[in-house]
Amino acid sequence: MARISLTVDGEKVADDVEPRMLLVQYLREKLGKTGTVIGCDTSNCGACTVHLDGTSVKSCNVLAVQADGSSVTTIEGLAQGGQLHPVQEAFRECHGLQCGFCTPGMIMQSVDLLKENPSPSEEEIRLGLEGNLCRCTGYHNIVRAVQYAAEHGGGASSAQDGPPPEVEAGTPQEQGASV
Ligand code: FES
Ligand code: FES
Repeated sequence: MARISLTVDGEKVADDVEPRMLLVQYLREKLGKTGTVIGCDTSNCGACTVHLDGTSVKSCNVLAVQADGSSVTTIEGLAQGGQLHPVQEAFRECHGLQCGFCTPGMIMQSVDLLKENPSPSEEEIRLGLEGNLCRCTGYHNIVRAVQYAAEHGGGASSAQDGPPPEVEAGTPQEQGASV
């Protein structure tokens, strides 16, 4: 066992973990942070995305011991003071989620994307989200949600003004299925 100390969603934690334990397992099984999802076993889907010292990582691709001394933010730590993060709000406004399985990772990746590039083009958004898979929305509404968040401060403010952009209806097949 190895002793690790880290901060998760603003709270300091310390635990003895097996060196082989993945960060996503630690978050879910030790801390009960089940908002972070395991969607594959091939490091492909991005459902497990969290922020490690402010940068998005796939937590199924990081050992818990590698997070020792770091600060981790999960989807459960994004809202502040009962207010959704602007990117969460944008996903709600733009119907960027359906089943929600991919949504935690999509949102965490989008927050990091907008931090790096507050005004991304559609192509840059699609490129920035290429490591996150969604089977439900056809991606169009997810891309619009990121655009909406960018237009409303890119996560700098929780204030949301104005109507959401037009949202397309239709099946994922009708909407297109590639990022
Ligand atoms: S569970 Fe981590 S990439 Fe799929
Ligand atoms: S909303 Fe269903 S996988 Fe993304």
